[in-house]
Amino acid sequence: MQNRPEALYLDLLKKTLTYALWPEPPHPVDVYKGADLTIREKALAALYKLLSSFNGDIEVVKKTSIYPEHRENGMFWPANADTMVGLKRLDNLQDCIETVLKEGIEGDLIETGVWRGGACILMRAVLAAHRVKDRRVFVADSFKGLPEPDPKQYPADKWSNLHSMRYLKVTKDEVMNNFKKYGLLDEQVIFLEGWFKDSLLGAPINKLAVLRLDGDMFGSTIEVLNILYPKLARGGFCIIDDYALEPCRKAVDDYRKEHGIASGLVPIDWTGKYWRKE
Ligand SMILES: C[S@@+](CC[C@H](N)C(=O)[O-])C[C@H]1O[C@@H](n2cnc3c(N)ncnc32)[C@H](O)[C@@H]1O
Repeated sequence: MQNRPEALYLDLLKKTLTYALWPEPPHPVDVYKGADLTIREKALAALYKLLSSFNGDIEVVKKTSIYPEHRENGMFWPANADTMVGLKRLDNLQDCIETVLKEGIEGDLIETGVWRGGACILMRAVLAAHRVKDRRVFVADSFKGLPEPDPKQYPADKWSNLHSMRYLKVTKDEVMNNFKKYGLLDEQVIFLEGWFKDSLLGAPINKLAVLRLDGDMFGSTIEVLNILYPKLARGGFCIIDDYALEPCRKAVDDYRKEHGIASGLVPIDWTGKYWRKE
């Protein structure tokens, strides 16, 4: 029932997490890219630095043309939202969690690659809305952005420059504060700090019901699948945020092929896909 208080709460939360209730503000010129600034952007960034050295209150911003469908589909990097995944992928996450609750599929929930934490905040909120006390939400991130590519180990990541993007570096304190803002930081939320290859190996995870991957790169996807997919319960959901990104797609396709995973990939939007473990 869509007008039950729990459903209304989760609906409002998703709109808040994605900043869908407000117009997108102009974007600061220098934070969205790393080494790839155009000459014009470099000039604007230099101007910004110069102006802010005179007066710390000055910021150089540029107008955006963001429409509701961009926000629905998570098609841009937002200024203020607590998640960049968009409403359709949040709806999918809620559906997956509510399905495992309804069907009694055993296990905790995890997102690997959380940025400002919005998708994990929704995970915790769905548990709260359904008064679930015996499942945990794992929040896994370096909390310092993406790793430098290691083309020897992972040739598919050769061209990645995501590690240079300041915008993608969000500290653990910021993410904890975001949970606090929504009143959802408690003992059911477990932070796993570090590179996935290190932090996930010794993590206190027995069984997972929902495994959500959002690490963008080949290495950050294959490492998570190798370590955590065996812990996903039968009937559990494996959600891939970045299937439209070639390195991520290759990691997913390689893993599924190597392990003979036959259950089909279900599209969520232009990039998100999921499958259920058989
Ligand atoms: C695109 S953002 C995630 C977006 C987020 N799911 C949301 O709801 O907006 C990617 C995140 O993955 C993290 N990340 C990527 N590769 C990683 C790795 N190998 N180890 C730890 N963190 C990683 C980055 O720090 C970043 O926070």
